[in-house]
Amino acid sequence: MNPANEDQAIAPDMVSDAHDSIRAIQWLDERLCLLDQRRLPSEECYQYPGDAVAVAAAIRDMVVRGAPAIGITAAYGVVLAARRRYAQSPDGWRGLLAEDLRQLASARPTAVNLSWALRRMERRCATITGDPASVLLDEARRIHSEDLAANRRMGEHGAGLIRAGDSVLTYCNTGSLATGGYGTALGVIRSAWRAGALNRVFAGETRPWLQGARLTAWELTRDHIPVTLITDNAAAYLMQTRQVQWVILGADRVTANGDVINKIGTYNLAISCRHHGVRFMVVAPCSTLDFTLNDGQAVEIEERPADEVLNLAGRRIAADGATAWNPAFDMTPAGLVDYLVTENGVIQAPDTQKLAALKPPPP
Ligand code: MRU
Repeated sequence: MNPANEDQAIAPDMVSDAHDSIRAIQWLDERLCLLDQRRLPSEECYQYPGDAVAVAAAIRDMVVRGAPAIGITAAYGVVLAARRRYAQSPDGWRGLLAEDLRQLASARPTAVNLSWALRRMERRCATITGDPASVLLDEARRIHSEDLAANRRMGEHGAGLIRAGDSVLTYCNTGSLATGGYGTALGVIRSAWRAGALNRVFAGETRPWLQGARLTAWELTRDHIPVTLITDNAAAYLMQTRQVQWVILGADRVTANGDVINKIGTYNLAISCRHHGVRFMVVAPCSTLDFTLNDGQAVEIEERPADEVLNLAGRRIAADGATAWNPAFDMTPAGLVDYLVTENGVIQAPDTQKLAALKPPPP
């Protein structure tokens, strides 16, 4: 139960700090510092990848994950790469950087924020004379801070849709860990919680990588927002028993018609929501919108190693001889989405026309 609903007031400035304390990506002392999300919640340790190859590996191996976070990390990766390339060849650094951009772009295929951020950094490169390091660092920092600002705006937009006393189920991790800070869907939940509107927050554990159980639960409890975990297969029953009025989650890519590509299992949740009359809200910044694709059919869905399904916490749990199929994402047709929340506004029942109206200028 939300203490704010019970009139146990906390001073507002304390609330905002208390509910938003985590940053997974930092630029510290000329180095990129990443909170290693594979080790959470049992260990809080950091990695400092020093070049494009190491940054690409950190993205691929999910030291850092979540669509906006991947884009921001890659942008800082370009800073590290350009610094090296300029030291190697002050005249030829741009040509050498092409291989670094390729490495970073191929780290993970599904989240469009990665290519969006790299395109923006590449455009900035074209305008530089002399040492590129500080100009590119400014651009990466801008990408980072714009994401945080977008999340706060989406938080307010999304929270405005929630009625006092509603409860919500969220999925995967869409919070500070997955973004520049505050979060997309978790940003809406943070804002709604702070306003005292939310009754309960449920999180799906998100097999097989357990982003819900390990990361969302860690992030929310750290930020003093009570969370109740469910197994993924309890979601339909949670809805049938009228315990949630909303499913609120993020996206790795939203195509021009409003199809949503997100963590595997999102499509199940959307179908269950429609059946039970539970509202389905997708929260994603404009950097997640992909206007180059008419619909979600053509999006490459990452397949991850079978071991992630066959093993748990480093131990084999599946019967010997079994194999596994492990798609990391699925596609939810736009027709199942009740609300798409971006920093530029809220769209009810998204379609091609409505999305075109909020199309941002190219980066
Ligand atoms: O495989 P992951 O953990 O990178 O997947 C993350 C998701 O699917 C998130 O829902 C999405 O990136 C939105 S994060 C704001």
